[in-house]
Amino acid sequence: MTTRTRILTGITTTGTPHLGNYAGAIRPAILASQDANADSFYFLADYHALIKCDDPQRIQRSRMEIAATWLAGGLDVNRVTFYRQSDIPEIPELTWLLTCVAAKGLLNRAHAYKASVDKNVETGEDPDAGITMGLYSYPVLMAADILMFNAHKVPVGRDQIQHVEMARDIGQRFNHLFGNGKEFFTMPEALIEESVATLPGLDGRKMSKSYDNTIPLFTSAKDMKDAISRIVTDSRAPGEAKDPDNSHLFTLYQAFASKAQEEEFRAELLQGLGWGEAKSRLFQLLDGQLGEARERYHQLMSRPSDMEDLLLVGAKKARAVAAPFLAELREAVGLRSFVNQAAAPVAAKKKAAKAARFVSFREDDGSFRFRLLAADGEQLLLSRHFADGKAAGVVTKQLQSGDALDVRTEALGFSVWLDGSAVADSAEFADEASRDAAIEALRVALTPLED
Ligand code: TRP
Repeated sequence: MTTRTRILTGITTTGTPHLGNYAGAIRPAILASQDANADSFYFLADYHALIKCDDPQRIQRSRMEIAATWLAGGLDVNRVTFYRQSDIPEIPELTWLLTCVAAKGLLNRAHAYKASVDKNVETGEDPDAGITMGLYSYPVLMAADILMFNAHKVPVGRDQIQHVEMARDIGQRFNHLFGNGKEFFTMPEALIEESVATLPGLDGRKMSKSYDNTIPLFTSAKDMKDAISRIVTDSRAPGEAKDPDNSHLFTLYQAFASKAQEEEFRAELLQGLGWGEAKSRLFQLLDGQLGEARERYHQLMSRPSDMEDLLLVGAKKARAVAAPFLAELREAVGLRSFVNQAAAPVAAKKKAAKAARFVSFREDDGSFRFRLLAADGEQLLLSRHFADGKAAGVVTKQLQSGDALDVRTEALGFSVWLDGSAVADSAEFADEASRDAAIEALRVALTPLED
């Protein structure tokens, strides 16, 4: 059996997906999940969303919109494991186990946290002003997301590479502390898709919600058309040759066109196609490619309980992996059931006591001696005389240490020797066979139990 590559990525649920998200992350992830060799885990990082957003309506809306976008975009939930982070209680639990091994110094270096501190310092605020523990611990939660499922590859944007490296660091530390030679966690690798387009926005800068230059994805055809009409172009008039390679409108077209469509559009622009007409071509291309998915999107959004069901199935699949793994990890750190653990040593002791026991006593002359009795009470050994209890104790301890016994036979009896002197003797036996059987019984009785 070939092991498939486990690909895992999360989408923070704070916004509404736009065309840039679709081309840059959603479309490539859906395509990657269709590879027979891929075992994809995609999830809504809604715990991460809480770090950035305290508006419950927005969180809820975004979770639904993102789920609907991925499903409408063609994600096959029978093939991939698609779930909400917050449906997997094992993730916050693992987060705590990892928090307890994550170095504070490591988290001090996280870019997102450092940027917030720098900003505070710049504006003369307290360095920690407005910084929550959520923001600070963000990389540990992300490490739990990744390590929980032993992901091999983690497709992320460049700004997230550091977090994947921290996941490796924290995972390695856990492996080292608790693995006992076993590698609990697979070391994940960030996957940066170089070939994937970063789409330009309306103004030519990277399409991003923070620049307010996005083209909506599935809201409506009209919204998309309106946005396209606002794409900034140069002032060349219809009939004048346009420069496709310096036009972000052309770049947007390219990201969705076939090679043939691209070449045709390029030729038309060079021949003086007007910008108004060019925008209308772009709209037609996008509408043709995304129109059906848009319909599916609105259908999904109008039946949220269907999505709920799909996501709960995904959560069940994910937890089938997470729960047994977490049980192993809890065991490793010492969070174990009392039932099995307490029983084990007591049972062992009982067994040992049953196998043989030493009974010490004092002679009338004041000397100390002991007997070794077999399970059935039969006397296996009677010790010589010791001046004090301590000396006798040292000998009984040594006899139980598991070291090879120095047994010397003497006619139909035998004695046990330690450091060159006899310390205990057997009784006299009827014949050699009984004597040898007793020696064997003695060895068994003194073999320490495995713990
Ligand atoms: N932090 C990621 C982002 O903002 C989202 C995310 C959360 C994630 N957990 C993850 C990505 C685990 C990859 C793997 O983009």
